[in-house]
Amino acid sequence: MHLQIKLNPPYPIYLGSGILSELLPDYCRSLNKRFVIISDDQVPTETVLNVKHLLDDAGLDARVFYFPAGEIHKTRETKACLENVLLDWQYGRDTCLLALGGGVTTDLVGFLASTYCRGIPVIYLPTTLLAMVDASIGGKTGVNTRHGKNLIGTFYQPLAVFMDTDVLKTLPPEQWSNGVVEIIKHALIANAELFQKLQVSVDSLKNNPQLLLEIIHESCLIKKNIVEGDEKESGLRQWLNYGHTIGHAVESLEEYRLSHGQAVAIGLLVETKLSVEAGFLAASVLDDLEKLLTAYQLRLKTAVFQNRKALLHQLKGDKKSKEGESHFVMLNKMGSARVMDDAYAFPIGSVILERALDWAAERFGKN
Ligand SMILES: NC(=O)c1ccc[n+]([C@@H]2O[C@H](COP(=O)([O-])OP(=O)(O)OC[C@H]3O[C@@H](n4cnc5c(N)ncnc54)[C@H](O)[C@@H]3O)[C@@H](O)[C@H]2O)c1
Ligand SMILES: [Zn+2]
Repeated sequence: MHLQIKLNPPYPIYLGSGILSELLPDYCRSLNKRFVIISDDQVPTETVLNVKHLLDDAGLDARVFYFPAGEIHKTRETKACLENVLLDWQYGRDTCLLALGGGVTTDLVGFLASTYCRGIPVIYLPTTLLAMVDASIGGKTGVNTRHGKNLIGTFYQPLAVFMDTDVLKTLPPEQWSNGVVEIIKHALIANAELFQKLQVSVDSLKNNPQLLLEIIHESCLIKKNIVEGDEKESGLRQWLNYGHTIGHAVESLEEYRLSHGQAVAIGLLVETKLSVEAGFLAASVLDDLEKLLTAYQLRLKTAVFQNRKALLHQLKGDKKSKEGESHFVMLNKMGSARVMDDAYAFPIGSVILERALDWAAERFGKN
């Protein structure tokens, strides 16, 4: 399968089982570059060596560099270390980077590529479900600082993305869930059929390659349409934040003990409850969502709703709040987010917010 992301500049996504060995060597040969594969040190060795051997066998100059895995290493310091290594090895503008890993790797290496020698090409080879359906589409790159996540970065498009579903075979269950939650988010805001497909795929997603491909493809299409409609995040892209306003607050107050997927799953439920309380959405959607998240093994437990004051304080500080008031994406129905007068996120009155938070305290409470 093949998708074209029409951003500036446009780039292709190749998606399929076996796509790396099928297409990557010829694609790279056509570029006439030296290649540097950058991975984190937890990406399975077999996956990294497979890519290295593909390039070696094609007669290309390819070297591998690693950085320590994890969100805590998605920093300016790691970027500087990699830059120093590249400079030491005298890589110049004739270099193309290959970001081989999850979203941490594509964000970090994308940022690195955007500033190295004032910008060199980068190809994304996502190896997590989340990086395929989310991080490798849209051109956002960046690193974290102690002030928050992704605060330093660029908009920079990769030359191409190769999504080979074969690499997902080694993905641990928690990483599957992280990806599935973002797919569920895409379905909620833009595609009711995708939601239904996820409902009937719980037991087969990992073992049915054709189904997995279809679901990744549809999810990528949703993100593609949204980012193409709003390249620099002025409006429509806010939809992609669905579940993340509450999700980020949960993540932060839980001090990252919950995975991103678990926190966003809880965020999706609470934000969906807001639409129900506001009278926009049928309550059955909330029930269906809860069943689906549970079926995909998401553990929906947190004590953060017991401390209302801390939670409200956290929400006020959200990047996307305006004048201290949180704005939320709302649903009109399953697969259809609300848009009105060019607004894609809406301020929520305190009564509705309190009601949803009361519900959450009861529903997710751990005490
Ligand atoms: N740029 C964007 O638009 C965008 C969108 C969403 C998320 N993100 C970013 O993505 C990051 C999260 O990405 P992630 O969830 O992929 O995390 P990650 O990159 O940290 O990967 C998770 C873990 O899985 C390991 N791993 C990767 N591929 C594997 C495989 N095939 N088999 C076994 N293990 C494997 C990694 O080594 C890592 O330890 C965050 O930093 C987030 O900010 C960016
Ligand atoms: Zn997310």
